[in-house]
Amino acid sequence: MEMVFVNQAREHVGEEITMAGWVTHYRSSGKIHFVIVRDGTGVMQCVVKNPLAILKNLDAWDGLTQETAVRIRGTVHADPRAPIGVELEAEEVVVVGPSEGYPVAPKEHGVDFLMDHRHLWIRSPRQAAILRIRAAVIHATRDFLDSHGFVVADPPIITPAAAEGSTTLFPIDYFDDTAFLSQSGQLYMEALAMALGRVYSFGPTFRAEKSKTRRHLTEFWMVEPELAFCEFEENLVWQEQLVSHIVQHVLATCADELHTIERDISRLETIVAPFPRITYDEALARLAEAGLPLDWGEDMGAPHETALAGMFDRPVFVTHFPVSLKAFYMQPDPARPDVALAADLLAPEGYGEIIGGSERIHDLGLLLQRMDEHHLDLAVYGWYIDLRRFGSVPHSGFGMGLERIVAWICGLDHVRETIPFARTLNRVWP
Ligand code: 4AD
Ligand code: MG
Repeated sequence: MEMVFVNQAREHVGEEITMAGWVTHYRSSGKIHFVIVRDGTGVMQCVVKNPLAILKNLDAWDGLTQETAVRIRGTVHADPRAPIGVELEAEEVVVVGPSEGYPVAPKEHGVDFLMDHRHLWIRSPRQAAILRIRAAVIHATRDFLDSHGFVVADPPIITPAAAEGSTTLFPIDYFDDTAFLSQSGQLYMEALAMALGRVYSFGPTFRAEKSKTRRHLTEFWMVEPELAFCEFEENLVWQEQLVSHIVQHVLATCADELHTIERDISRLETIVAPFPRITYDEALARLAEAGLPLDWGEDMGAPHETALAGMFDRPVFVTHFPVSLKAFYMQPDPARPDVALAADLLAPEGYGEIIGGSERIHDLGLLLQRMDEHHLDLAVYGWYIDLRRFGSVPHSGFGMGLERIVAWICGLDHVRETIPFARTLNRVWP
């Protein structure tokens, strides 16, 4: 008999099936016993009407403690009261692996306790649902980019220099030298765009962020598309198309998971391109009205991003930031050189920046000038400068933080739940 996963059980009403999973609860009411089993795809209630006749290799039903692994054969019945619409009437229960003293009981635990037990906490239906949504976001991202002619190309993780500023680099011993974990593959993606046209990378990036916020990890995954012959405005269109595709894909394929985590999906249904755009200057004016004044040239913090995003029902682009706030490679606006052709995409509901992107400087002289202003070692970046010497063209790209977008789609308090094993300022374990 073929094994059926919980999320397929609805297609097997009236049939005898076998399922396998782990016990989340066991309770009995008189003669009838209920075993609630999760298998990673969902949670199923199994009803046992004659327990002693069917539990094969266990002395007592009391052995069906939390996380006991079981294989159950039975018949699927429709049950409108069940969260997944069906339940299983069990005819045979076999214990595959016992579980004693499971520490992550279904009661409230503190965050430190849960993170210390992350290797077990990921089994909880809520955490598993979040990780399944993460997988759907990854799938939708790759699907969108692959089907629009982007070539996946992988930049190195061990790098000789900073891409995003030297203060958040993780150094590593590289034989007799020092190298750094990549903060962003962007500079390499620019080289790859000149070789392949439209490219993207999707991999881990590392930042020695000293900030202890709900949006910062020291190891996070970033998608970095880069497009040759693409200017600032077109770059924004790609971003909004990608984000709407991701959200709509999750809505279409993760209904059970969104239900499990109790996400208000009406907040996601409106996420359809185009997204509003406001300049940094307009943002300052709106913030001043909202009682959060900033001087021109000051960077926005989380409260500013939250207030701005709260003014819209979908993500909003903030564009044309002061050049002084942004990375050395960003193209200044030719019409107004004190602002960069850069944009941050802010997610609704207080999730802040999910994408950072820009048009890149393609003029050799201007790039050298900006690198000089940033005191960058021309020897280390020599290969990057070469890109401006041999057929340099306008090009643009962006970086989308996977954990940020998953946290927003799932409506989570903290990015640590969006990645299987989070790395933060004070945690590299388990
Ligand atoms: O804005 P950032 O720093 O941009 C870059 O690294 C560019 N080189 C990307 C590019 O244009 N190719 O980072 C991009 C995104 C942010 O918008 C955010 O979503 C995410 O990466 N991010 C982080 N996510 C989790 N933890 C952190 N510490 C993050 N830092 C950035
Ligand atoms: Mg940024």
